[in-house]
Amino acid sequence: MNELAHPGVTIPLRDRLIVALGALAAGALLLAFVHGLASGAVARSSMHSLWLALHLAAVVPALPLGAYVLARRKGDALHRALGKLWAVLMLVTALSSFGLRGLTGNLSPIHLLSLLVLVMIPRGIHLARRHRIEAHRRVMSLTYLGLAVAALFTLLPGRLLGTWLFS
Ligand code: HEM
Repeated sequence: MNELAHPGVTIPLRDRLIVALGALAAGALLLAFVHGLASGAVARSSMHSLWLALHLAAVVPALPLGAYVLARRKGDALHRALGKLWAVLMLVTALSSFGLRGLTGNLSPIHLLSLLVLVMIPRGIHLARRHRIEAHRRVMSLTYLGLAVAALFTLLPGRLLGTWLFS
């Protein structure tokens, strides 16, 4: 049994895989940042957008924090406090993304993920308040999966972090 789990409750395999994907994404982002610093790509990047600063300031801590909340014991005061913090970070991530139009010059398909997050986070909180715990767990796990996948997609060549990783 995982020692982080609530006594008598194991972390579902689905959540373990999602946390592993989040850890992989966090490692890849760190690699991109270190490589970008070493190659000078970070210094050459123009990152003057306040929206981008806000987006990154919210999403970068949301990646490890969300993994921790998914992996640790559920239902206690710390779960509720960290879960609320994660929810706020995700809402800021999604809202700030509407100030970012760099890829197409307008709204892009990734903004659909932002809309989804703006629906899923309030839904997840509502389900927790209604004590519909399994549904709450599913909604939050899937939202975290979206975050981990979005993080990996930022490493595509042509995107800012992809430039840091591959240049
Ligand atoms: C750790 C995860 C994430 C990182 C590091 C990240 C980073 C970035 C960066 C650097 C940009 C600027 C465009 C570019 O990449 O060149 C961007 C744009 C964007 N991000 Fe994120 N992001 C993450 C997660 C998310 C999530 C979860 C969402 C949705 C809720 C999201 C939605 C967007 C959108 C819609 C854009 C604008 C795309 C465009 O220019 O059309 N991102 N993100």
